[in-house]
Amino acid sequence: MLDTPLKHLAIIMDGNGRWAKKRGLNRTKGHDAGAETIRTITTYCAEHSSIETVTFYAFSTENWKRPKLEVEFLMKLLDKYLQKELPTYQKNGVRFQAIGDIEAFSKPLQARIQKTQERTQHNQNLTQILALNYGARAEIVSAVNHLIAKGKMAITQEDISTHLQTPYSDIDLLIRTSGEERISNFLLWQLSYSELAFTPTLWPDFTTKELATIIENFSQRHRRFGGL
Ligand code: IPE
Ligand code: IPE
Ligand code: MG
Repeated sequence: MLDTPLKHLAIIMDGNGRWAKKRGLNRTKGHDAGAETIRTITTYCAEHSSIETVTFYAFSTENWKRPKLEVEFLMKLLDKYLQKELPTYQKNGVRFQAIGDIEAFSKPLQARIQKTQERTQHNQNLTQILALNYGARAEIVSAVNHLIAKGKMAITQEDISTHLQTPYSDIDLLIRTSGEERISNFLLWQLSYSELAFTPTLWPDFTTKELATIIENFSQRHRRFGGL
């Protein structure tokens, strides 16, 4: 048995829309509530001794297919979240990083993202990564294109790993909420040997108590990585 600590946790936060619908509310209310859950879970991760990085899937390259009003709401929510979060990042020693193609966002939102990254870059307790306009296939293709631009004729796994946008680290545990059991183009390369946990809980209802239970279950698992 190889005992591997939980260093990198990744979360597909799903079910905001269904959470709102169940309450007869607009989908946007579900996104508001979901942003609060990100805050709570990040604080828990910052206090957890082994977790170094938590990566949240916040907006996929496919989410542009949603109605314009919902997309616009999500962009505004992200801006508000980052603005409100800065003092908490500083207080809890959280370094914020974005992955994904943020150049598709408005200039003020790009500036907010950059500013938050810069202001928090020396925090060392936890790295919180938000995947924004992120798609794993796009990330891998972009890594390969960087290597081609450098004149590489043969590409190794190590080359791809080190040219991904995610500061390279394998994911130890992936959680997806809302009962869907799929990856939806998230971190395909980094998930090769992750443990997977699916829960029917909708993201706004996800609690630190449930996270603690999932982490406890993770710690009982035997990760073999192809060995015995
Ligand atoms: C996840 O919740 C948040 C984003 C994808 C932005 P959804 O908005 O996908 O909620 P459901 O899946 O429709 O319930
Ligand atoms: C995945 O959720 C993307 C994010 C959580 C940001 P979706 O709700 O977009 O995924 P599908 O469409 O159900 O696969
Ligand atoms: Mg969804």
